[in-house]
Amino acid sequence: MSPSEREIVERITLERTAQKPILEGVGLSKHFGVESGLFQRKKPPVQAVNNVSLSVRKGETLALVGESGSGKSTLGRLLLNLLKPTAGDVIYEGRNLANLPAEKLRQVRRDLQIIFQDPFASLNPRMTVESIIGEPIWLHSEASRSDRQAKVAELLRTVGLAPEHGGRHPHEFSGGQRQRIGIARALASEPRLILGDEPVSALDVSVQAQVVNLLEDLKHQFGLTLVIVAHGLAVIRHMSDRVAVMYLGEIVELAPVNALFETPLHPYTQALMAAVPVSHPDLRRPRPVLGGDMPSPSRPPSGCRFHTRCPHARALCKEVAPVMESVAAERQVACHFWREIANAGAGTLILPTPSAAYSQRLSLFKTHQSLSTESQP
Ligand SMILES: Nc1ncnc2c1ncn2[C@@H]1O[C@H](COP(=O)(O)OP(=O)(O)OP(=O)(O)O)[C@@H](O)[C@H]1O
Ligand code: SF4
Ligand SMILES: [Mg+2]
Repeated sequence: MSPSEREIVERITLERTAQKPILEGVGLSKHFGVESGLFQRKKPPVQAVNNVSLSVRKGETLALVGESGSGKSTLGRLLLNLLKPTAGDVIYEGRNLANLPAEKLRQVRRDLQIIFQDPFASLNPRMTVESIIGEPIWLHSEASRSDRQAKVAELLRTVGLAPEHGGRHPHEFSGGQRQRIGIARALASEPRLILGDEPVSALDVSVQAQVVNLLEDLKHQFGLTLVIVAHGLAVIRHMSDRVAVMYLGEIVELAPVNALFETPLHPYTQALMAAVPVSHPDLRRPRPVLGGDMPSPSRPPSGCRFHTRCPHARALCKEVAPVMESVAAERQVACHFWREIANAGAGTLILPTPSAAYSQRLSLFKTHQSLSTESQP
């Protein structure tokens, strides 16, 4: 094989590997039971995540976005096996975590790490930075004390801190530095995937960019896969490859980041976009502003969960829940009327013909509607 042929084969292999899922959620639900007093009526469970299927590809940065309470953190914790699902499965590297023996699960826990929004709350204030970062090394390997110290010093340098910082406590650092300590601790387990749960939301805007750049650098340096949970879309635009938009425990749109920003298809995504500042006046276009509060996840609305706030809602939306439909390469959306909504506002989008499943649902609904009108006195 000539060097150029080898190069082509290597590139194709790399592209194939990059498309392979490292982690998958299949029909995942998490319903939290609500405690009730002795004589109180039993309250319905909180449907934090409801029947979500999602793949995370090797080497990508996948963002989970949505308003507060939409289920992003719960979905992240389910994927990392930090919460037990009410229903559904988590598949890591093709293996169902529910069937893995304890020893293998411990390895999975090392492979899948998490960093939190508030590093101060997640770092033990009584421990030195060296102990905080060194703990996973101590727990998971038989490294000597000096090896551990050398590894911690290396990790501190990797995240932009100095080895001398190892002797200090978390309160002696700024917010950005504390987040770097959290990242170093996650890296100590030599993970393959890191989930950042709002990793920069608590930081000053100037520091946010530094931490985002650090995560990007580490991703390339260590071949990591990143899942980033974020409230707003501004942060994730610059760092993610794909975006999953969540509303009331469900994914309503999944798309490559540029496609999502250029032509958001779901009315909820369009409303979220209204909150993103646009720099050039030519790029500004009227978009709906999201009104009202999110309904309670204990009593989600019937049909499409977004119908109580959707400016495009019709009778069908109240009755029939839309399913995720493939609408273009790599794009999925859960809305009965996304075609019409896109046609009204998205200009150049090429629209496929309606799927058989969609047409069938629509005709079933129309039949049902005409039958109920006929049966009225
Ligand atoms: N342990 C729990 N017990 C009961 N309800 C919970 C629990 N954890 C989360 N919830 C509820 O589940 C829903 C989803 O919560 P989750 O924290 O996943 O949302 P989120 O999108 O991460 O929100 P935020 O952006 O505020 O962090 C919320 O209504 C929340 O109150
Ligand atoms: S299905 Fe109906 S209510 Fe739901 S987003 Fe689409 S138009 Fe709005
Ligand atoms: Mg959260």
